[in-house]
Amino acid sequence: METTEGTLEEALAALSRDAEAELAATSTTDGLEEWRVRYLGRKGGLARVMERLAGLSKEQRPAAGQAANRAKATLEGAFSRRDEELRRAALTQAIAAEALDVTLDGRRPRVGYANPVRGVLAEIEEIFRGMGFGVVEGPEVEWDRYNFELLNIPADHPARDMWDTFYLDQDPQHLLLRTHTSPVQARVMEAQRPPLRVIVPGLCYRRDDDATHSPVFWQVEGLAVDTDITFSDLKGVLASFADQILGCKVRFRPTYFPFTEPSAEFDFSCLVCGGSGIQDGRTCRVCKGEGWLEISGAGMVHPRVLRSMDYDPAVYSGFAFGMGPSRITMLKYGLSDIRALWGNDLRLLRQFR
Ligand code: FA5
Repeated sequence: METTEGTLEEALAALSRDAEAELAATSTTDGLEEWRVRYLGRKGGLARVMERLAGLSKEQRPAAGQAANRAKATLEGAFSRRDEELRRAALTQAIAAEALDVTLDGRRPRVGYANPVRGVLAEIEEIFRGMGFGVVEGPEVEWDRYNFELLNIPADHPARDMWDTFYLDQDPQHLLLRTHTSPVQARVMEAQRPPLRVIVPGLCYRRDDDATHSPVFWQVEGLAVDTDITFSDLKGVLASFADQILGCKVRFRPTYFPFTEPSAEFDFSCLVCGGSGIQDGRTCRVCKGEGWLEISGAGMVHPRVLRSMDYDPAVYSGFAFGMGPSRITMLKYGLSDIRALWGNDLRLLRQFR
């Protein structure tokens, strides 16, 4: 049938052309829906062309109807394909945007702050490694035998009084919370033969509680055993350590330990008051006016200790020390009370980020 708009088939062909060109240019789901309404909707282009079927003759109608149905099926097919294409593209884009790079480092959750003693312990280890010492550890729950007996402190020895601790059982062998890191001296000598050079960082426990003593505290034990170790080696190693860690002066005072002979106490000059004992016209709050702070016990390994380890004291000699890293931390940061290191006060800990 001829009309001013041409035949129905021509109108369908023109409609299909325009629709397919527009569909190819549509790149959003919203645009696609607008296209569907415009061409396939109830009042859309195809519906308007099909309205013209009614005006055709009986003979013309079947062929024109078939052509209209084909055009409809073609446009619906094109719509579904484009719809599928756009969905796939959106999915691919979303997957790319959310891609997880499994090779990236994890984000470390920030949980609290490291205790400043940890930093000092790391420095101590580095300095002693530089002087040829290895680092070993021992148990915090220790047998009486290692904490006392093998260190020449028998059950009735008065030195046990200053190392009072928590006993964990009624066993005659006695398990206890170690009072110093010195038991690890015996463990190392039992397990290895000279030459030995080790340090032993670890926690210790005592019935102590004042500005320079906490009930739980760190110690770092040191032990060197060889055929010709002398007291000068001990002094040289500790003086070099003091210089490297804080650049301060050292002094040795004679003292007594059952497991060393001779024995000494080893002090650092106070960095807070410059060793004068006076700070801002008052008694220095860190060294309490002494000008020095006791850092370590030390001495030459007692021949009886060597013998109990089957080391011949005529052949071998050694030095040992047991220092307090918390005291070094007090000096380094000007802390007046050692217990602050265990208080978990964030105002203090935040300063050591
Ligand atoms: C001892 O513990 C000996 N075992 C050290 C030793 C080892 C001597 C090897 C000879 C050979 P002393 O009790 O003095 O010694 O403690 C050594 C150091 O540990 C002290 O100088 C101090 O720095 C630290 N220290 C001791 N008790 C406490 C405490 N309660 N709180 C904090 N630091 C402490």
